[in-house]
Amino acid sequence: MRLETPTRLLENMLIDDRQRGVFRVNRRAFIDDRLFALEGRAIFERCWLYAAHESELAASGAFVSRIVGGKPLLINRDRNGGLHAFFNTCPHRGATVCREDRGRARNFTCPYHGWVFSDEGKTIHRPIDTSYSPACMEDSTQHLTPVPRFDSFAGFLFVNFAQGPESLETYLAGAGEYLKNIQAQDRESMIVLGSPQTYSARANWKLLQENSADGYHASSTHSTYFDYIRNREGAVRDNFSRTGFGCVRNLGNGHAVSESLDGTPWGRPLARWIDSWGTEIRADVDAAYAEMVQRVGAERAKTICHGDRNLLIFPNLVINDIMGLVIRTYYPTSPSYFEVNAFALAPKHEGPRLRDLRHRNFLEFLGPAGFATPDDQEMLESCQRAYATQTWVQWNDLSRGMLTEDGPNPAKQDELQMRTFWRRWHELMRRAGETEAV
Ligand code: FES
Ligand SMILES: [Fe+2]
Repeated sequence: MRLETPTRLLENMLIDDRQRGVFRVNRRAFIDDRLFALEGRAIFERCWLYAAHESELAASGAFVSRIVGGKPLLINRDRNGGLHAFFNTCPHRGATVCREDRGRARNFTCPYHGWVFSDEGKTIHRPIDTSYSPACMEDSTQHLTPVPRFDSFAGFLFVNFAQGPESLETYLAGAGEYLKNIQAQDRESMIVLGSPQTYSARANWKLLQENSADGYHASSTHSTYFDYIRNREGAVRDNFSRTGFGCVRNLGNGHAVSESLDGTPWGRPLARWIDSWGTEIRADVDAAYAEMVQRVGAERAKTICHGDRNLLIFPNLVINDIMGLVIRTYYPTSPSYFEVNAFALAPKHEGPRLRDLRHRNFLEFLGPAGFATPDDQEMLESCQRAYATQTWVQWNDLSRGMLTEDGPNPAKQDELQMRTFWRRWHELMRRAGETEAV
């Protein structure tokens, strides 16, 4: 019998022929259970994963509980201002300690037998504790277990389930600069608006990562949206004709961005005015822009305010900073199913009229019921159905723009951002496979 070692599973997985300009991904990567299991060990248990935004934990005692990389976590701010990330499982017998999504708490009581934990994760009370031996009472494993690594960058909180030498900052590589520019959208801090929107798709999680900065699909998949903004009252056709501009960049470590400056037909609440918003709103947009210029300088203000960008942070974080600003993170529970948490982000001091526009922009395009998300979901699910049922067709093609990908400005419609992702995916999978084989 031939053993399917992880290394053998990865054979014939990518075609990355830079000379011929051909890049292909074997469709097994989307459906194979053994590859899916290896992804858990090679990627989700080794990479830095986005967990929360600091604004969700601004108040003393604030907490969120959510699934990150498939694991339930409890993240909180203690009464002294310290931030913690714990596995949300009781050290007694495993029950979920915190069952609310968010709130404020001085301590946490496990609903099963009533053990109580402090906001620093220490067990501070066990009902009828006189029956425990001193050894049990003193055992440090009887507290909530902190996630091995937990760090913050520009207000974004990440966890890592493995110990390792690579700091969060090093891991983020070129993506760090983009996170700093998001943080700079407000003089004090960015804030998450409301609760996350949660939805799911019957597709492989990597398809969403591919889709999220795919400039190639916009005009066909989202033609309804473009029709809508082209035809709404006051829209300027000149604006619309510029949708093709922009470029993609490899930011290192599997991260990438697709961006454009003044090259898209929608308005940005920070701070790019369009005719269809009407002249009344123009003063608000100009004021927001002037404040930015004064604070960060003209050049950076232009980049921050006028630029649209879809930022991909390997493996499962996407930040769409376009007509609205959305953090999307997702995790798979099988090769053909993933769940998404989407958080709308905004400058804390944004005025009410711009905030209202931001909400509307979010609902129109980015939200789960907007013009974009359902159309994208349908595309991803149709791809997945093909992989599962038509295994005679072996390869996906991601070759667009490959021969010019090392040039100064690879085009936004190119597929460099997907190749960047897949090369990193393959490298980490291969590395883990080789270690396991040893
Ligand atoms: S499982 Fe939590 S107190 Fe028993
Ligand atoms: Fe899309």
